[in-house]
Amino acid sequence: MAHTSDLISTDIEKYLKQHEKKSLLRFITCGSVDDGKSTVIGRLLYESKMLFEDQLAAIENDSKKWGTQGGDIDFALLVDGLAAEREQGITIDVAYRFFSTDRRKFIVADTPGHEQYTRNMITGASTADVAVILIDARKGVLTQTRRHSYLVSLIGIRKVVLAINKMDLVDYSHKVFDRIDAEYREFAKQIGLSDITSIPLSGLKGDNMLVASDKTPWYRGPTLMGFLETCEVDDTRLQKEAFRMPVQWVNRPNLDFRGFAGVVTSGSIKPGDRIVAQPSGKESKVARIVTFNGDLAVAVAGQSITLTLEDEIDISRGDVLSLAESPAEVADQFEASLVWMTDEPMLPGRPYLMKIGAQTVTASITEPKYKINVNTMEHLAAKQLGVNEIGVVNLALDRQIAFDAYKANRDTGGFILINRMTNNTVGAGMLNFALRRSHNLRMQHVDVDKARRSELKGQRPAVLWFTGLSGAGKSTIANLVEKKLAAMGRHTYLLDGDNVRHGLNKDLGFTEADRVENIRRVAEVARLMVDAGLIVMTAFISPFRSERSMARGQMADGEFIEIHVNTPLAVAEERDVKGLYKKARRGEIANFTGISSPYEPPESPELVVNTHTQTAEDAADAIVAKLKSLGIVDG
Ligand code: ADX
Repeated sequence: MAHTSDLISTDIEKYLKQHEKKSLLRFITCGSVDDGKSTVIGRLLYESKMLFEDQLAAIENDSKKWGTQGGDIDFALLVDGLAAEREQGITIDVAYRFFSTDRRKFIVADTPGHEQYTRNMITGASTADVAVILIDARKGVLTQTRRHSYLVSLIGIRKVVLAINKMDLVDYSHKVFDRIDAEYREFAKQIGLSDITSIPLSGLKGDNMLVASDKTPWYRGPTLMGFLETCEVDDTRLQKEAFRMPVQWVNRPNLDFRGFAGVVTSGSIKPGDRIVAQPSGKESKVARIVTFNGDLAVAVAGQSITLTLEDEIDISRGDVLSLAESPAEVADQFEASLVWMTDEPMLPGRPYLMKIGAQTVTASITEPKYKINVNTMEHLAAKQLGVNEIGVVNLALDRQIAFDAYKANRDTGGFILINRMTNNTVGAGMLNFALRRSHNLRMQHVDVDKARRSELKGQRPAVLWFTGLSGAGKSTIANLVEKKLAAMGRHTYLLDGDNVRHGLNKDLGFTEADRVENIRRVAEVARLMVDAGLIVMTAFISPFRSERSMARGQMADGEFIEIHVNTPLAVAEERDVKGLYKKARRGEIANFTGISSPYEPPESPELVVNTHTQTAEDAADAIVAKLKSLGIVDG
């Protein structure tokens, strides 16, 4: 059973040979510390004896020192000890543990924190064959169990071990076991999981971990290790899928060599095969498969390789190489299943970074469709997803990408979303299918373009994006600037918050989501006006960096001039021209910027003005001077 290392000392060659031939099982564990997860994994690791001696000595000492298990070894210390190492930044991201027995090698993707956990389930650990779902026998099937199981089914793991742990605390009751087993199976049916093995366990006492327990004579199934060692897995699954290789980097050491390096995520490839680079669609033939150990005649899923091609075609990092006869799909709008992983609200319209394969693109959620009640599997109408909630949304990207539906290929269909400002992972998801809208909607070519329109007006178009608190003086200054520009014969337009909110945006209020949408629309309109050749002024609080940066991203270089009207809150509140601050302080207006809703000042605006230390007239002059120095108006 457990791996003993006799061969290692007597015949290392033989040991390594045996070891190489063993099949590999990848599994994930779902559950929390409370369910005894650490103890169960700790014991599996310990019994497999593949730990370093000093690690063993350390936990034996710690167990004695802390006396957590009355002189016995506390297996949880092992796992938690490794977790502490991780906290110090020694290991990062996905914490894979390797261990082996005489029969099999194992990789368990273990993830302590919940955030990491979901993210790894969907991305890093996406190749797992088995999910071990832990249950505390005293508590039975919890909402968390259902959520994890639903994720397991979404990510495509078909084999589940229901590890009903802490049986020692329910007197090894057959009844309790049967009740939990039946309840779980009933639920699992609804989410399409049918390959379920329930095992009564005590990670702490070792019952049914490696040896059948005499405390559960009524149980005839396998032990946990027995199951993991013998369950059937198809480890050629990935190789049977179509060939995909996301390009991690383009290797060009000299003019004679140009290779595309990456990991084959599915399928296989050999020299002479016709491949297509996606999304560009350019085709060529594989010339060589280069590796550290020489050229290969064939490469399969899991291998890191460098491909050279017969033709010089343009391929960059992030592109996907596919077999030409079974290419990936290409699209820029999708329906996706999404798990929201943070307390920060999900804001439709906000640009997030999306990482999929080796590609990083900008994506926004155009429309949350529904969320799922994991207890009943009901679809509930939703504008937002809260932390840990799972839902279905539509996504729009800033460009076309190569992808596969997650069901067909986990690597080219799974993604994470990242907040561009904080770099936090906010969501993880799976692409369900492409929305074909964009394909019927092509950009119409126009002959009179921005350049021609600007030329007719004799000016360089631009956006002056004013941002600042309510009452800071944005509208007043913008109005003065417009008058000055008009006097100089410039063609202008002023988009003012209060005015736009009476028309185009009268359906929007002041929640974060509505403000994001407000600014998204204003940025679109400003872009059209710049396209018309105008000098546009926008006067909106526009409190969030994300949306201002999105607006900037819509304009050409040098066209976006961010002006921070940096009047201190106390001054704006003191003036309180519209009496809104008073109302907000009395609690009569919700989400008031500066009081009950945040304002994120610009980090590097083109210009800062301040109506506290400058008159509005001076501020307007400073802006016109800036426009002159930038060459937008003649000076
Ligand atoms: S933004 O945050 O979405 O950019 P916008 O500039 O359009 O705001 O509108 C701000 C104006 O709406 C304020 O100057 C004020 O007159 C009014 N207003 C009404 N309610 C609020 C609120 N809760 N927070 C801020 N401004 C509000």
